Amino acid sequence: AEIVILDGMAAAGELAADAILAIVAAKPDAVLGLATGSTPLAVYRALAAREADLSRVRGFALDEYVGLPEGHPESYRSVITRDVVEPLGLDPALVRVPGHDGPIQTAGDDYERAIRAAGGVDLQILGIGTDGHIGFNEPGSSFESLTRVKTLTQQTRNDNARFFDSIDEVPVNCITQGLGTIRRARHLVLLAFGAGKAEAIAAAVEGPVTASAPGSAIQLHPHVTVLVDEAAASALA
Ligand code: F6R
Repeated sequence: AEIVILDGMAAAGELAADAILAIVAAKPDAVLGLATGSTPLAVYRALAAREADLSRVRGFALDEYVGLPEGHPESYRSVITRDVVEPLGLDPALVRVPGHDGPIQTAGDDYERAIRAAGGVDLQILGIGTDGHIGFNEPGSSFESLTRVKTLTQQTRNDNARFFDSIDEVPVNCITQGLGTIRRARHLVLLAFGAGKAEAIAAAVEGPVTASAPGSAIQLHPHVTVLVDEAAASALA
């Protein structure tokens, strides 16, 4: 992987925006893999500021909670609409979030089919959990896994409680692209900021390739860019 240590989130967001706009310039209907959470906001803000025409870009969200009421403001569907589709001027009809079409039992297979039909993901934006997850592939997830329903770890529910009124409101289940799905994207851009991510980044970038550290799946991929600040890089050798 190419590791770039930057002076803060904004600089990382600008670099990721450069990479995305280079792809879109060559392929106006490029397919982006969209992460949610706090980390990628830097990317979406930088992209919005460029005011590029992204109206033909297609998007596939990485994951979604299962069990929130339709329209809940913290559902990833709502977050993607608010933080990505609207500010970037994407066409909402071209942006999918898993678990929103048809019954949940077949939602994983449907999502995989839709990604394949789109020709695969050109650039996948990734964050990483403090427990090492990418997407919501918690420790123990298979490197071959595809989009499916999973259970969140207590650590992830605690980490994400900040978006909800209380921990009890954080869903227990989710649907997430698998590590196999993520590995098929042509370019992975993993971002992480802050000391809380240092261990997860070290495990992903230079730890053993193991299902206990889902982020280590990036070591199996030929084209990965890791954008981190000093704090998130602090546990690297
Ligand atoms: C979000 C996702 C998660 C987050 C991770 C980090 O779509 O798949 O893997 O990237 O939980 O979250 P933040 O960025 O909020 O620290």
